[in-house]
Amino acid sequence: MDDDFLILGIESSCDDTSVAITNKNHVLSNIISSQLVHNQYGGVVPEIASREHMKNIIPVLKKALEESKIDLNKIDLISYTNGPGLSGSLIVGSSFAKSLAQTLSIPMTDVDHMKAHIHSIFLKNEENRYPNFPFLSLIVSGGHTQLVIVNDYNNFKKIGITLDDAAGEAFDKTSKFLGLGYPGGPIIDNLSKKGNPIFKFAKPKVKNYDFSFSGLKTSIIYFIKKELKENSKFIENNINDLCSSIQHSIVEILVKKTIKCAIDLNIKQICIVGGVSANSHLREKLNSECTVNKFDLFYPKINYCTDNAAMIAISGYFNHLNKKFSDLDKVIDSRLSF
Ligand code: KG4
Ligand code: ZN
Repeated sequence: MDDDFLILGIESSCDDTSVAITNKNHVLSNIISSQLVHNQYGGVVPEIASREHMKNIIPVLKKALEESKIDLNKIDLISYTNGPGLSGSLIVGSSFAKSLAQTLSIPMTDVDHMKAHIHSIFLKNEENRYPNFPFLSLIVSGGHTQLVIVNDYNNFKKIGITLDDAAGEAFDKTSKFLGLGYPGGPIIDNLSKKGNPIFKFAKPKVKNYDFSFSGLKTSIIYFIKKELKENSKFIENNINDLCSSIQHSIVEILVKKTIKCAIDLNIKQICIVGGVSANSHLREKLNSECTVNKFDLFYPKINYCTDNAAMIAISGYFNHLNKKFSDLDKVIDSRLSF
């Protein structure tokens, strides 16, 4: 068809190597290779992450082309993650993108990873249901927790950030302390289903629309260390209730701030994006609060919550519509936030 526009997206900002092919916002393939090697260290080791990206990127590209049944020569645009992220990891993806664009003689565009998380909400879904501008987006990932007013595809106003740890980090660090492994979010989410939130922890007191999770993490760790002095099997005897209580506390903080923000600003549509937006309790709790307040809630499919190249492709598509292309001498941006 004449109006096809094929984008090849490349994501390599942290520990997931991903390549996607989309036709505008319609995902034809989205291959993600998660680097399980980091599990044994309880977190991502940057040097190992770069080497794994080097190893994975060609097989992941081949699989993405195969699954989409698209010939590499038919691609119209290469879109890659420019930052924020781990510099070594970003260099692998950006160098690969530049080489491909040069070889195919097609344009390329660089994408901000956080904006791409926001754009993931516009990936085609079965219901054809998308938010209208302006909407409020809660970005919750392993490195970021932000509340952003989205006025247009490329017009954002950040109104809240985390002052210390991100929400995903709170899941990951407490999971590591409990000996549950990395990434902690999905593990805690699963175990919580068999438990109840019977333990209470200190709540952060943070003004405005900012967040803080470091105090909560310390309160959880102190509480468990104290209990362990009385009962050395405290963790194993209470693991499900501990997970449920941790998850409940993190979700309560996120939901309260987000709903307050939407009420204060009179914004009726809320999106949650990023790895933690896959959390079942967060979705449930926000859903019921949105029903009470007559807000519309949107979240991406699970595969588009955690890091993926489909969101990089669609974000690149919005750049293309704005005629925002990159030069070959563009250097990566390894800031920690946008
Ligand atoms: O967006 P993402 O893949 O990477 C970053 O950009 O950081 O997010 C990764 C984070 C990790 O902290 C992981 O524990 C968390 O998302 N996560 C979850 C769930 N699935 C992934 N947290 C809570 N519940 C989940 N089901
Ligand atoms: Zn991410």
